[in-house]
Order: sequence, then C-alpha cells, then structure tokens
Amino acid sequence: MTLNKIALAIAAAVCVSAAQAGEVEVLHYWTSGGEAKSAAELKKLLESKGHTWKDFAVAGGGGDNAMTVLKSRVVSGNPPAAAQIKGPAIQEWAQDGVLANLDSVAKAEKWDSLLPGVVANVMKYKGNYVAAPVNVHRVNWVWANPEVLKKAGVSGMPQTYDEFFAAADKVKKAGFIAVAHGGQNWQDFTTFESVVLGVGGAKFYQDALVKLDPKALNSPTMKKSLETFRKIKSYTDAASPGRDWNLTTAMVMQGKAGFQFMGDWAKGEFVAAGKKPGKDFLCAAAPGTANAFTFNVDSFAMFKLKDTGAQKAQGDLAASIMSTGFQEVFNLNKGSIPVRLNMSMDKFDDCAKLSSKDFVSTAKTGGLVPSVAHGMAISPSIEGAIKDVVSQFWNDDKIGVDEGLKRLVAAAK
Ligand code: GAL
Repeated sequence: MTLNKIALAIAAAVCVSAAQAGEVEVLHYWTSGGEAKSAAELKKLLESKGHTWKDFAVAGGGGDNAMTVLKSRVVSGNPPAAAQIKGPAIQEWAQDGVLANLDSVAKAEKWDSLLPGVVANVMKYKGNYVAAPVNVHRVNWVWANPEVLKKAGVSGMPQTYDEFFAAADKVKKAGFIAVAHGGQNWQDFTTFESVVLGVGGAKFYQDALVKLDPKALNSPTMKKSLETFRKIKSYTDAASPGRDWNLTTAMVMQGKAGFQFMGDWAKGEFVAAGKKPGKDFLCAAAPGTANAFTFNVDSFAMFKLKDTGAQKAQGDLAASIMSTGFQEVFNLNKGSIPVRLNMSMDKFDDCAKLSSKDFVSTAKTGGLVPSVAHGMAISPSIEGAIKDVVSQFWNDDKIGVDEGLKRLVAAAK
C-alpha cells in the first residue's frame, strides 16, 4: 500500500470511530474515597473506547439525593445517558418507557449465561434487559478495629447478640465508642435489617420485610428485633445524627470506635486507605447472620437518547460494565464482589472470598435475601415509609417497642 493510501485508511478509521464516539453523562452517587476510586475505573474504561464521560455525581450515601435529582432531570425532559438505578426502581422507570433496550449488548455478550438468575431478573423489564449490573454488595456485615477489641479484652468477632453486647460493654468500658453509627435513615435501616435477619432468620426477614406480611411484622420476633435494635442505639455516640457513612467508617479505621454495622462498600474505604483485612480491620457477618446474605446489586440503566453516537457509547458502557477486566478492578476497589459468574477471586481478600462463597451457598439454602435498605426488595414508596418509622423509633427513645411495632405494621400497608 502506498503511503497516501495508508494515510487515507487511517483517516477513514479515525472518522468512523469519531462518528461512533459519543458522550455519556452518568448520574451516580459514588462520592466517598472508595466509591470515587471505583467510579474512576468505569470512566477510564469508557474513555479508552473513545467516548466522553460526563460525570454527574450527586453526593449522599444510599442514593436518596441522587434519585430525587434524577426524577427532576427526567421530568424536565433532560435525562442523563445513564443512571445508577437498581432493584424494583428499574421496573418503575421501565414502565415509564424511558429506558433504552440493552438486549443487543446482552445477547452479544451472553449476559444470560453470565449472571445469577436472581440478578438477571432484576435487570429485565418484560424479558428485555434495561440495566447493566455492576457488582454484588453484601449488607449484613459488622466491621471492627482489632486494636480496639484487643485493648478492650474482646477476643474474636461476636457471633450472637449476647456476645455482641458483652463485647460492646467491654469496648465502652475501655473508653472507646462501641458502635460507630451514622444517623441517616438508610443507615438506620441498614442496621435494622441486619438485626431482623439475625434475630428472626432469613425466612422471617422475607416474610416481614419483603412480603410485608402483617402476621410476621406484628410478631414477638419483630418485637425482639426492635428491642435489640434499640439496645444497639445505647452504644452509639452523641455526634451520630446526620453523620455520613464513610466518616463513620473512618472512626473504626482510626481506632475511635470498635464496631460498625455497614455493607461492604465500607471495605472500599479501608482499601482506599491502604488498610488490610485481618490486620487493620476485621469483617464478620452481623450477629446471627453467618448463614445468610443480604444482597445489594448496583446497576446502571440507560435512558433513551436520539443521538447515535450517544447510543453507541451507552452500548459500550453496558458492555464495559460486564467485562471481566472491569468486574475485577471495580470490585477490588468498591469492596463488593463481581456479579459476573465464574470470575477468579484470586486477587480478592478474605472478606470478599467469604462473601463470594456465601453468595453461592446461601442461594442454595434460601439464606440469600434482598436488601430493603438498599432498594432491592420493595417499592420505593413503601421502603421510604418503613424507613421513616424505623428512624423515628431509633431517634426517639420515648417511642416504646409496642408503639414502634404498631407504626411499622401501619407503614407497611
Ligand atoms: C448503596 C450503594 C453502594 C454504596 C452505598 C453507600 O446503596 O448500592 O454502592 O454506594 O449505598 O453510598
């Protein structure tokens, strides 16, 4: 080939790729240390495909703020190209007819063979893929600072609530904050759902918090769960109300507090700070939940856009999310495990390896349950109502357990 023919060929290739290149505006709420590092991996990958990532980060752990902003963007006819939407909310957005169909990518990449059925179903609306799953977070964890436990004379992570409160007493007596908690309603409910799972077990959790069965909600087991939940409150510090989750994780990291109930995005904070599990922090299933797994799958839905470059970029974003390379590097940073099946866990730490093992085993035993706190289980409106009741109960010791039970039953209707 003569030189000018090569030059023409390169020019043509550049034009084609430039024509296909698009801008993807991505709405998400990953703004903490570990979260931001993880999101940066997705941005890097998309830009390596020639597209432009327009970051639309809305701070606020748990995503309530982000979902409020998303609604206003869509209502004003100006949706982002992609948004961090998950669980039943995906179905609600799809019902509005605003989500792009991702079947072409899903078929080309064989997603059906790469995803656990429980996850694939959440990503589909009427059988079509409308969202790409990123990870599997486990919510029912307790994190601890081993130095603090040692100074307090606590050996090992508590497996039951009797052991937990005995350990918390020792940590408090040694002069530390026993339980680091951020007083925001999604964090209150993150703790509450782990307590319900630990006190009542997976079937009770499903009956009470997923099926919202009044008999399960209005039961001695739920009463015991509320009593246990309230008892945890007495081990938190006065500065807890309103504190962001990652600042709360930092209290454990810095040796100010002994324990934190939180999903494994908290591990992303430890990892971002260069901390090692077993040495600088401990992870264990929340008391009574070692044989259960509360899953929280992050995902991105794409909004219907007219621009073909943007559509190509959306398809490339969806394909990137499920690629083996991204699944590994993102989840190593995020504290979650890959959602794509048959991924090697060699590079992952012991907490992630335990999570991966338990994800598979609990799927077989019925111990795998959706997180209510993180939008995986019930409609956003009912989720909001029961979160408010639980936070009112947590914040106001004057609300007795019987009154709390009554309000929970009413909110779940
Ligand atoms: C969850 C989300 C996680 C993490 C956490 C704290 O709802 O699924 O990825 O971001 O909130 O913000």
